[in-house]
Amino acid sequence: MTAEIINGREIAQTIRHKVLEEIQLLVKKYKVHPNITTIMIGDNPSSALYKKLRDNACREVGINPQQIDFKKDVSEKKILTTIEALNKDPEVHGILIQYPVSGHISSEKLMRTILPEKDVEGFHPLNLGHTFLGEEYLVPCTPQAVMSILEEYKIALECKDVVIINHSNVVGKPLASLLLKRNATVSICHVFTKNLKKYTTQADIIITAVGKPKLITPEHIKEKAIIIDVGIAQTDKGICGDVDFETVLEKAELITPVPGGVGPVTIACSLKNMVVTYKKCVENL
Ligand SMILES: NC(=O)c1ccc[n+]([C@@H]2O[C@H](COP(=O)([O-])OP(=O)(O)OC[C@H]3O[C@@H](n4cnc5c(N)ncnc54)[C@H](OP(=O)(O)O)[C@@H]3O)[C@@H](O)[C@H]2O)c1
Repeated sequence: MTAEIINGREIAQTIRHKVLEEIQLLVKKYKVHPNITTIMIGDNPSSALYKKLRDNACREVGINPQQIDFKKDVSEKKILTTIEALNKDPEVHGILIQYPVSGHISSEKLMRTILPEKDVEGFHPLNLGHTFLGEEYLVPCTPQAVMSILEEYKIALECKDVVIINHSNVVGKPLASLLLKRNATVSICHVFTKNLKKYTTQADIIITAVGKPKLITPEHIKEKAIIIDVGIAQTDKGICGDVDFETVLEKAELITPVPGGVGPVTIACSLKNMVVTYKKCVENL
């Protein structure tokens, strides 16, 4: 028996279709097209590729993607002033920063400066607070994508043991909240976890988001585990995830590939968040 491979592109297509229909109705009602601005800092090739894919997805559903570019050494103050101007601009219906940003700029400061109602990524403390309280208003796109995949494949979460490998504020922690809300038992592992295998071999579901190829091998999982691989790493052979895909395939029940798994669904979920910010902005006009 080999695992069923999750088709992230198909899930993304379904989400994009729903977003397109919703936007068509909203544009008809409010007579304003959604404009979403991304701030790009530096010229990181993976960020540029991700941004290009997201922009294409935006155009497909009737969202107008706009971009402001800064050199890598731009001052933090200049970015903050730009965000403040975008916050006030009634023609901007959502703001994104393409992370990661250079070390001299505080990501946290940028996240806090974007107006919560224009915060497409859901990283503002107020929006993260909503997510942690189970209100699910503007949920960060990657945790939202993982939940959409589990939902689409009808994975029951109640009573399940779930291990997340990532404890960042934007992936691991919000994801844990979403899973806890659905009554899963959640363990969060990270680089300081003493014995990763001790946790992963007990898990019904493993969600890994590290960016380290072959972090998860068959010895890390139990028979029929469900594996969601968020990690992205560039190798000589191309892009791969954290999971040693071919070998784990023989033991798992359900698994996401990289590419074609969580990535396209994350982009689709960012479109969903754009609808939320756009709606909020036009309703306030
Ligand atoms: N598919 C998608 O849509 C998508 C979206 C977002 C991110 N990603 C990918 O997901 C990965 C993580 O992204 P991120 O922004 O969350 O990065 P991050 O903030 O650097 O998080 C990486 C996490 O992995 C932990 N970690 C590092 N080495 C480890 C090890 N050997 N064993 C166990 N845990 C370890 C880190 O712990 P410490 O903090 O203690 O070091 C941290 O919690 C990257 O590959 C990124 O490209 C994919």
